[in-house]
Amino acid sequence: MRRRDFLIGLPTALAAAHALPRAVFAELPPSWAIGFAGVESDLAPLPMSVQGRLPAPCQGTLFRNGPALYQRAGQRYGHWFDPDGMIQAFRFAADQVVHQGRFVRTERLLKESAAGRFLFNGAGSKISGAMPERNNETLNVANINVQLVGDELLALWEAGSAYRVDPDSLETLGVQHWSKELAGVPFSAHPRTDESGNLWNIGSASFAGSNPRLVLYQISAAGQLKKFRVHPLDFAGYMHDFILTPRYMIALNSSAISTMTESETFVGSVKWMPEQPSQLLVFDRQTLDHVKTIEVPATFVFHFGNAWEDQQQLEWTACAYPNSNFMTIGMARLAQQQPGPYYSDLTLVRYRLDLNKSRCQIEPLDVDLEFPAFDRRAPFSPQPLYGASGSGSSASGLATAVMRIDPRSGDAQRYDYGPDYIVEEPQLIGGDYLMHSFLDHRRGRSGVAILRAAALADGPILLAEMERILPLGFHGCFVAAA
Ligand SMILES: [Fe+2]
Repeated sequence: MRRRDFLIGLPTALAAAHALPRAVFAELPPSWAIGFAGVESDLAPLPMSVQGRLPAPCQGTLFRNGPALYQRAGQRYGHWFDPDGMIQAFRFAADQVVHQGRFVRTERLLKESAAGRFLFNGAGSKISGAMPERNNETLNVANINVQLVGDELLALWEAGSAYRVDPDSLETLGVQHWSKELAGVPFSAHPRTDESGNLWNIGSASFAGSNPRLVLYQISAAGQLKKFRVHPLDFAGYMHDFILTPRYMIALNSSAISTMTESETFVGSVKWMPEQPSQLLVFDRQTLDHVKTIEVPATFVFHFGNAWEDQQQLEWTACAYPNSNFMTIGMARLAQQQPGPYYSDLTLVRYRLDLNKSRCQIEPLDVDLEFPAFDRRAPFSPQPLYGASGSGSSASGLATAVMRIDPRSGDAQRYDYGPDYIVEEPQLIGGDYLMHSFLDHRRGRSGVAILRAAALADGPILLAEMERILPLGFHGCFVAAA
């Protein structure tokens, strides 16, 4: 185009734009909305385009889980918690990366696939013509996390059972039953491992009306139930994750309290109650006995970092929100591809608990960090914490950066991909590399990046991308090649 044509053409184009009704522009979804479009069928293996060299410790597979099936027969879920879970596998070998995605075949997915429509409400969405659910397991979408336990993957939800998945084929193998009496009992999405490879977890039945309970689990490294305990709760606060120390399991009963009524969804029934202090519930790891309950100011936490002991104090980090608005409002607006605010402004905080004196100090670290990652080979040492950052200031309310922080000194380093990217949960690999998936929503690509953990600010040393757009997910794990 000659300069003169450009000068003539520009005002014409602008005039045409002004002639369009304002509503046309208002209805255009933001570019990040493609991360919530969802997919409707399994995704066959697809080689990705790769720039950079793969470090040897990163040979293996990044598994991720997240909500993926957003609509059937003209109905669409309205909350990020609700779509059926799909396991994504990014397999790294030599300098090749191949992606594959497969839905977890839950009881619910099979029934709704056969019916060709949604049959049940979601945790955060009402479905018109929904059937009454038989129990919490009827609603299980297995969409929060995927972790390797023994030789199998567990696709984890939080209000019911985990599903077993084959790591090679991604085929669903069935429901994980820890024991007969625990069938269908909630098993949360964030099991933690100790120094011996034992798995510990909570299960929160905060939806259980007037009888809310917390279940505590210890599972062997091979995946066998060793012990469990059921603890009655004073109130039905939302609990998603917990703290594991060398001697204790600590759960935070938050001040986002379920007031379950039949007319509302679970999320709709959660009310923020700032006048109700949150509770740290401390349990002995050896016996699972309740040791004590310590009140702290009303808070909302999805995720905790690792914990360590410093003299007589128990210390840990937490991604703390001022209230539950991100879960109850923000995550619905995102799933509905609506404008904000999303209330995703959070602060990383450091807890110091003197158990003898029942005194807890909570110190803000003045950074926003979500999806915390640490070196799981040393779960109880004070060590750098990694995570996704920048959510409070981005247009989507989701992270655009990866970050590393020393929780004791506050020294931090980050790499920001800019406003066109959404950064998902990172995994620390061998202590030396950080791997995370991402969505480049302006170019319409999903991908995975690898950075050197000690030099995050230098940016990625490997980028693998594809034109296939994956729904934004929650959590996963990296499994090194044998
Ligand atoms: Fe989580």
